[in-house]
Amino acid sequence: MAKKGRILSGHRPTGQLHLGHLEGTLRTWASLQDDYECFFEIADWHALTTGFEDTSMLRENIEQVAIDWLAAGLDPQRSVLFVQSDVKEHAELHLLLSMVTPVSWLERCPTYKEQRDQIGEEKTAGYGFLGYPVLQAADIIIYKANTVPIGKDQLPHLELTREIARRFNNFYGEVFPEPQAMFSEFALVPGTDGRKMSKSYGNTIDLADKPEEIEQKIRKMFTDPSKIYQGDAGHPEECPVFVFQGMYNSKERIEAIKEACATGELGCVDCKAEVTEKLLEALAPVMERRRELEADRDLVRDVLARGAQQARQVAAATMEEVRAAMKL
Ligand code: TRP
Repeated sequence: MAKKGRILSGHRPTGQLHLGHLEGTLRTWASLQDDYECFFEIADWHALTTGFEDTSMLRENIEQVAIDWLAAGLDPQRSVLFVQSDVKEHAELHLLLSMVTPVSWLERCPTYKEQRDQIGEEKTAGYGFLGYPVLQAADIIIYKANTVPIGKDQLPHLELTREIARRFNNFYGEVFPEPQAMFSEFALVPGTDGRKMSKSYGNTIDLADKPEEIEQKIRKMFTDPSKIYQGDAGHPEECPVFVFQGMYNSKERIEAIKEACATGELGCVDCKAEVTEKLLEALAPVMERRRELEADRDLVRDVLARGAQQARQVAAATMEEVRAAMKL
């Protein structure tokens, strides 16, 4: 069967993944595997751009991400799952792209400014951090990916990727296609406090959590603050628990819940009990598979070793073209 094109996406190894990753990213990636030729990268060099001081957890974090990916249904029979630093060609392309990338493009990048404000000057003062988007561009175009499924927060990086590819092509001839972004359905999964689910906010439901922990986290979860007593009318569109309901129910049931919350007929305690049950049901196969993989690290390492081999073949072929185009 002819595929619709090639996909590359990636994630920094930040440790165990949470529900936001699963519903916002991984389920979308998994659903693309039949229609596209897929490359999924664990971007460990990107993690170093801000996490260079203490690297003691890096190896373990890489394996945790791989376990979560496999548990969520990324399938090494259909996709290439690999670790960035296993494919040294990315570093060579990053270097060559850095020659054609004006520093002003990088300083202008909104994520650069945001991160500086958020995590401070000290950790973001490095040359490597400024070049973060150049490395990401190399990740994408070394596979000549046409489509990049990402969160909206990554859009500035994809735009830079397109500009860098265009500039390279202008100087040396058409080597790289310009990739397109693809967004997933549940791009913004709220955390238990109603803000975006994020490890840095401490509001996550992790794929490695035990069912009791999840039950407890949902019981304490933030809801519509104007609904205090059972019987008060709620505002489901402002409630993160309702977002969860939306992820795990049929259209009809979602409408019924919305109506019952708005009229006050449905209280938060019952609503949370229902969503917990649905969530645990949806997570059960992922958790089960996670446990199996935790117990079989050799399998996980094997998958990554095989993925690196497959990725390297494609990346090496592109680098041949790049060197020829640049007359190196
Ligand atoms: N910057 C991405 C993130 O933080 C991770 C990443 C690295 C990536 N290389 C990529 C994403 C290539 C898409 C394509 O989530």
